[in-house]
This record gives sequence, structure tokens and C-alpha cells, in this order.
Amino acid sequence: MDAKILDGKKTARDMREEMRLEVISLKEKHNLIPGLAVVLVGENPASVSYVTGKRKACEKIGIYSREENHPETFPEEKLLTLIKELNNDPAIHGILVQLPLPKHIDDKKVLYEINPDKDVDGFHPFNVGKMMIGEDTFLPCTPHGIQQLLVRNEISIESKHVVIVGRSNIVGKPLAMMLCQKLKNANATVTVCHTRTKDIGHFTRQADIVVAAAGRPNTVTADMVSEGVVVVDVGVNRIEDNTREKGYRLVGDADFENVSKKASAITPVPGGVGPMTITMLLHNTIKSARLSRAV
Ligand code: GUN
Repeated sequence: MDAKILDGKKTARDMREEMRLEVISLKEKHNLIPGLAVVLVGENPASVSYVTGKRKACEKIGIYSREENHPETFPEEKLLTLIKELNNDPAIHGILVQLPLPKHIDDKKVLYEINPDKDVDGFHPFNVGKMMIGEDTFLPCTPHGIQQLLVRNEISIESKHVVIVGRSNIVGKPLAMMLCQKLKNANATVTVCHTRTKDIGHFTRQADIVVAAAGRPNTVTADMVSEGVVVVDVGVNRIEDNTREKGYRLVGDADFENVSKKASAITPVPGGVGPMTITMLLHNTIKSARLSRAV
């Protein structure tokens, strides 16, 4: 079987076009312009590239974006003051602090300072708790993007066995929680595998849907999946490649070449989950703007 490629770029493009029209209508009907603040501390190359992508995506659909770039040495206290200022700025509906933060800054302190009403990453424990009990809230962007990518490509999640490889707070754990909810586009049976799982293949071979979110190339190989499986690859790994202008290329966490021969559908890297993550950030920013005015 040759897998159908789950084109995240196209799905993201369709959703962003819908949102572009929604932003025009919010401006016309309510004089409301959704605003996102993106805070970057330091110059981690991957983070710089993500933040640029987020700003451009906002501009394209008419969301106001404020970029706050600060040097690696930016003190924690100043960052907390900046968050407070953004919490009180009525033009800002979403605050995103790009992770990872430099070592001298306590991530938790910073993320907890963000007003949960502006927490478009869905990382504040108040929102994590609401998600866990199935209440409406800001859903974390990568897991929500994965769910939308499947649904919009007519891959049903209902009653499927989803095996997630990776237990991060950003992807693995929240995705597991979202997909097992008694809600539309969920109702899955979920297994979470991680670095201390004895035989990951034993679980992934039983999966209808495998999500590779371990942050390591070749974590999911062809011998670890069954014929007809759906594979969602969340990995973004830079591999040295001197034939490329940048000196590297991106690969996911799954062995795409061989896994795609067995899978019925698979997401590419790049162009799979990545564009969906940014799309759900735009979605959350619009949601927050609407909630701020109850429109
Ligand atoms: N770093 C990697 N992924 C993310 C994300 O989804 N949000 C933030 N804020 N930082 C990240």
C-alpha cells in the first residue's frame, strides 16, 4: 500500500482562508482586530524561525501581531513585567512565550503569569485542567492541529486505538487527554508510550493511528506498524545535509520512506503537522478576541 499524504499545508491554507474572512467580518461588524503578542527571549535558530512563521501567518489573515524579541540575558523579572503589561493591553488577545526559555528563567513562573484568558498556547494549568475535564477552553495548538488535520482529511478518530509515542506537556500528554474525551472528534482509546516503555513496537503494532512525538528521528520504523495504519509525525529534527543551501534538512520521528509503504495515510515533514500548529494559534487568538467582547 502506498500511503495517502496528509497535506497539512493545504488543510492549513483552507482553514486560514476561512479565518481571514472571519477577521474581516469582526472588523466590519464589531471594529474588533484580534491581536497576538509573541515573546522570544534569545536566538535559538528553530525558535527564531517559528516566531517569524507565526508573525507572517498573523499578517496574512489580518491579525495584529506584536513581536517582543529580547536578548538571551533578558532578566526573568523584566519578562514577568512584560507579561503583566501584555495582560493589561486591550489590543492584545493572545500572549505566546516561545519555548524553550534560557536556563536562568523559570518557565513555570512565566507561563503561570499569563492571564488564562489570553493563554492562546493553552499551557496555563487552569486551561490544562479545563481541557482535562472536557470544558471549552484554549486547546494546545499542536494536539488541536493534529485532531483537525485528521478530521478535515476524513480520518475518523471515534473508537480508534491511538498510540502516542512521547509524553511531553506540549504534545503527547495533552493529545492523549483530548482524544479520549467523550466529545465529537474524540472518543478514542489512547495508549501513551515513552522512554521507559518496554517494547514500544508491541503497542504501536496494535494501533489504528500512531502519533510519533518523541523528538528523535527513526523512533517509529516500518516493523513497528501494521498495514493500513495512519501515521502522524510530529517530529522536527534538523539533520546535517551539505547538499542543501541551509546545510541541513528536516526529518520527522518516523522513517517516512519505509513506514509510508505500509501506512494508509501519513503526514510529511515538513508540511504536515507544522502548518497546522500555527493555524490553531490563529484560531485561538480569534477565539480570545471574540470572548473579550462576547461576540
Ligand atoms: N516551542 C515548541 N512548540 C511550542 C509551542 O507550541 N508553543 C510555544 N510557546 N513554544 C513552543
